[in-house]
Amino acid sequence: MVRYFYGVLVLLVFCLYSCHNTDGSSKGVLKEVKESKPDAVSDGAITYRKRCAVCHGNDGAAGIYNAAYLGISTMDDASIAKVLKSGKGAMPSFSNSLNEVQIMQVTSYIKTLRH
Ligand code: HEC
Repeated sequence: MVRYFYGVLVLLVFCLYSCHNTDGSSKGVLKEVKESKPDAVSDGAITYRKRCAVCHGNDGAAGIYNAAYLGISTMDDASIAKVLKSGKGAMPSFSNSLNEVQIMQVTSYIKTLRH
């Protein structure tokens, strides 16, 4: 019974989390960041150089530890934020080291690496 309860709880949390991400609220934060601080991309670039370039490289193509090539990534903002918060494969989670605003800034920056 206790297990069942936890199962339901996990599902509920997951659902709340997904709903949160699909209702566009992450994009809302990004928009707010851009409006309040037009240089969100350049702030994102600083975070990127400090935290991400070690694996992804300055241009997103280094592929160290098999890091994804960001130039051809097609992820939307919500999915990027999810990867940053939860980590993926060899990529660590940044939920303790980057706040919501920094995540949105670095997200807008890595999209400029696409071509
Ligand atoms: C320790 C190395 C490492 C660091 C540091 C790192 N990443 Fe990654 N990243 C990876 C690896 C490895 C993958 C591929 C994960 C997989 O698909 O299994 C990845 C995947 C991604 C993806 C998914 C791309 C796609 O289309 O699949 C994004 C976006 C991303 N990283 C962004 C970032 C950002 C932004 C930072 C800095 C905040 C960062 N990464 C820091 C190693 C790293």
